[in-house]
Amino acid sequence: MAIIKVGKDDLRGRDMAMSELKEYFSALSARKGREITYNVRTYGCQLNESDSEKLSGMLEQMGLTEVTGEASSDIIIFNTCAVRENAEDRLFGNLGIVKADKKSDRDKIIAVCGCMTKVPENVEKIKKSFPYVDLVFDPQQLHLFPIYLRDAIGKKKQLVNISSEDYIVDDSLVPIMRKRKFRALVPIMYGCNNFCTYCIVPYARGRERSRDIAEITDELNKLASEGYKEVMLLGQNVNSYKGLNGERFPEVLKAAAEIKGFNRIRFMSSHPKDVSDEIVEIMSSYSNIETHLHLPLQSGSDRILKIMNRPYNREDYLKTAHYFRDIVPGGAISTDIIVGFPGETEEDFKGTLEVVKECAFDSAFTFQYSKRPGTKAASMEDQVPHDVVTERFGRLLELQNDLAFKSNQAKVGKTEEILIEGQSSTAPDILTGRTLSNHLVNFTIPDELKDPSKTADDYEGMLCDVEFTHARPYSVDGKMVRLK
Ligand code: 5AD
Ligand code: SF4
Repeated sequence: MAIIKVGKDDLRGRDMAMSELKEYFSALSARKGREITYNVRTYGCQLNESDSEKLSGMLEQMGLTEVTGEASSDIIIFNTCAVRENAEDRLFGNLGIVKADKKSDRDKIIAVCGCMTKVPENVEKIKKSFPYVDLVFDPQQLHLFPIYLRDAIGKKKQLVNISSEDYIVDDSLVPIMRKRKFRALVPIMYGCNNFCTYCIVPYARGRERSRDIAEITDELNKLASEGYKEVMLLGQNVNSYKGLNGERFPEVLKAAAEIKGFNRIRFMSSHPKDVSDEIVEIMSSYSNIETHLHLPLQSGSDRILKIMNRPYNREDYLKTAHYFRDIVPGGAISTDIIVGFPGETEEDFKGTLEVVKECAFDSAFTFQYSKRPGTKAASMEDQVPHDVVTERFGRLLELQNDLAFKSNQAKVGKTEEILIEGQSSTAPDILTGRTLSNHLVNFTIPDELKDPSKTADDYEGMLCDVEFTHARPYSVDGKMVRLK
């Protein structure tokens, strides 16, 4: 399938739709005597978060005001995830809930986008069971959202736009409203060619395509000059980056680290087959690249890895993990693990537990295998019974919780730099942030360092040193010793 490059000229129709909608919403606002609002509800990964920031950017340019959380609004967009069945179930549950909302206001628009729309069964279900959804469009065509929105408003019947092409869009041409004032999500490549046999992503997000390195560095320079402290380089397979002139991921990582102003460079997600010694060495030689590697293991059994179509084995994985631990002192490794992949035996599962122990993961996202229609694994015969999966899952969680706690305990007594993310959601006088190694920290400000003119929000995006006093299962407590 060809990959279509989208530039300025291709977006004229979109720009026209944006101006038409701006007028439409302004008239609607006058008619209703209030602001016109939107709400983007994001499920799934950081790439979806990034897409949602673009949807928000376009809607803001049309003069709309954001409402957050699950609040009602004039435009509700569900940006969905199809990676596991429970995310899909949540969408269908929430679509049921907004039905009454839609009935009470004929001008309201409900849209569904994201990975679920690339699975034909889901689109059929939306057509049949949720006819009041106005618009369904897929993530490859996000840049054309204003055109679809205008057409959906004009049509009064469900509009479905799902492409069979893959696009690479000049991201500088898509307005963006970043959720956090200190953190910029910067996709550098889209799609996945790996076809792990359990995974829906290659079907939902299409083939790998990378942005031009010049376009990425332009964006990064602009972000640095705007004062962003943290950059997250994103891609379904971020290390498979391949620029127009053969540039590879290490060049992008180095370019980001060398731009003055960024205190934290993060990247995700990595595939163990692509994490070279060179990448680990770059991580250890720049003080602003996070000392944290997310390295999805999926399984610790060579037999299962092979059936998963993951082209590495346990030994390769351990080699990378040990190399990282050796040359990135104080570094942290996190992972993704699937329990109960078809055919997984007790012995295979024990292999996973062994690797988990040996790597001593600082944190892990653990998942029960979820059958995804259309993937190879969905038609494999020996699906593992649910009770066996939950029992194994419990054992893995117990082990991993213990390791995460130990990782937090190892911080106690040390002092490290924290990038402040804001106020803790549970206590107003506690701030929250992360170490360079991505450990979550909750901390207080001693009276002598308190600045009465600052609210908790003013600290967001600032750096400070925190002394760690107490470990919890998923976080560390501490107290600020210096604001930077
Ligand atoms: N079932 C369970 N977990 C899955 N993941 C991807 N597909 C599935 C599936 N079918 C997990 C993998 C991946 C993470 C993003 O989601 O661990 O790394
Ligand atoms: Fe899915 Fe594998 Fe691609 Fe990750 S690398 S998105 S798990 S197919």
